[in-house]
Amino acid sequence: MAENNSSSLMEKVISLSKQRGFVFQSSEIYGGLKSAYDYGPLGVELKRNIMNEWWRSMVHEREDVIGIDASIIMHTKVWHASGHLAGFSDPLVDCLISKERFRADKAPRPQPKDELPIECADKGQAKTYVEAIQKRFNIELKRNGKTLYGMKVIDENTMGFFPDDSDKPTETFPYRGYVSPTFGSPFLSDERQFNLMFRSQIGPIDVLGDITAYVEKNKELDGKELRTGIEEIVKKSAVYLRPETAQAMFVQFLNCQQSMSMKVPFGIAQMGKSFRNEVTVEHFIFRSCEFEQMEMEFFVEPGTQKEWLDYWRDRRMEWWQKLANDPSKFRYRAHEKDELAHYADACYDIEYEYPWGFDELEGVASRTDYDLKKHAEHSGAKLSYFDQQKQDPETGKNGWRYTPYVIEPAAGVTRGLLVYLLDAYHEETVPNADGEDSSRVVMKLHPRLAPIKVAVLPLVKKEGLPEIAREMVSGFFKAGINARYDEQHSIGKRYRRHDEAGTPYCITIDGQTTEDGTVTIRDRDTMEQERISKDEALQVVQKRLIES
Ligand code: GAP
Repeated sequence: MAENNSSSLMEKVISLSKQRGFVFQSSEIYGGLKSAYDYGPLGVELKRNIMNEWWRSMVHEREDVIGIDASIIMHTKVWHASGHLAGFSDPLVDCLISKERFRADKAPRPQPKDELPIECADKGQAKTYVEAIQKRFNIELKRNGKTLYGMKVIDENTMGFFPDDSDKPTETFPYRGYVSPTFGSPFLSDERQFNLMFRSQIGPIDVLGDITAYVEKNKELDGKELRTGIEEIVKKSAVYLRPETAQAMFVQFLNCQQSMSMKVPFGIAQMGKSFRNEVTVEHFIFRSCEFEQMEMEFFVEPGTQKEWLDYWRDRRMEWWQKLANDPSKFRYRAHEKDELAHYADACYDIEYEYPWGFDELEGVASRTDYDLKKHAEHSGAKLSYFDQQKQDPETGKNGWRYTPYVIEPAAGVTRGLLVYLLDAYHEETVPNADGEDSSRVVMKLHPRLAPIKVAVLPLVKKEGLPEIAREMVSGFFKAGINARYDEQHSIGKRYRRHDEAGTPYCITIDGQTTEDGTVTIRDRDTMEQERISKDEALQVVQKRLIES
């Protein structure tokens, strides 16, 4: 089998995604919208299959988890209580030389004594930057081709200009602790906070009209005062698109618990769209502004959170690995103390080895009782749980009322779809019909995730074969199996097309079918063909899907 070159794997997967109808660039005919994607005829099936598998394992197969489907727009107080309105922001920085804008928390961090070379795109740009730095900072960096030298880190907060390899700096400057990701420039603006939530207005309100009237009436105010006044007008009708599905599960904790008589420990699960005005959209669908999440809030007794965190970390890892070809590409990473979100006392990332290295796929966080307490405080609702069987540890009396702790496995659907596309992509050298070597691309998607489960192919478009094929397809439809009738092009081309679509089984109707009622069933991965009775084909496919 030919090796996938990881640097080009991403390009190959992006190209196949478009050709075969998995993922398209949003609004492509208008030049595309960089941060959004459309899931095509195969992509929508794959996405739903991933979500259905998650729902099945998290909700349908468990007595202790129930589901909800909450609205995307929630009361603005939800986002005040959760901290998203105040704190859901990225620290943003501009490079003062190249004007590159980037997230400070994701930037490379050269250490004391490290050199700080600035890597320009070409010699022309290098010359321009030397001049710009000289003008602004009064130092002349040495240029070698397209790289600028002379800056070094002195300590955590200081960097210096060391001309001609001298030991001592002739100038020192404050050092931010990181450099710009593209050029490595340490000449940076202050950090600014930028809220990631998409804001809109609700109700029949003419916000622009109100702002115009306000500005006309307050011509004497300075810019800062005007801005504060305008913010007040906008705030009155502002609503936000949810940046995570999680908050609805906290807000509906009581309704869900009481309506279903749930006993702690229990969970509430939800899947759906989330929106973040991401500063950096990157790696195809890995990070986009509109994406889908599968999240579950599991409410536990205080003090048991550690064992439940380990439990859910392991269940979630098993789930991802079970549906993949290469389980070795997944790993856990425990968050360092300084990385933890303000609400969490521990967290694991489940990471996947993407072509650019290990990166996040799902977070499994121990969120303490932070969210329920915050929502109780802001709403006045009693978001607690009473356990009649337990003794209150403080009073020693029977019956214990407490605010449950929460374990949250939070996964990205669209990020998971990228993982399974990367995992499925295989290039193989296989013999063609004449026994010669030929290459094939095959998407080895898990049969339960495969968009089309079975393709039914009449060998020729005559002699009654299409009719038999169509009847079989309708049998598959009735059984709820996504089948596809396909008569276009030669049989070899059809097999290749379905290999690329990830279709696990192809059933071919040929001359022999009309004689003895048998068909061939071809396995996508082994390419082995077996003759089976036409009437048993449905059962054979059903059995293979169940056993896969
Ligand atoms: N409720 C917790 C929460 O939302 P998160 O780590 O911000 O946690 C959970 O998001 C998962 O959602 C991530 O592990 C990732 O898979 C997915 N995700 C987050 N932001 C994303 C984005 N901009 N594009 C695609 N997926 C994203």
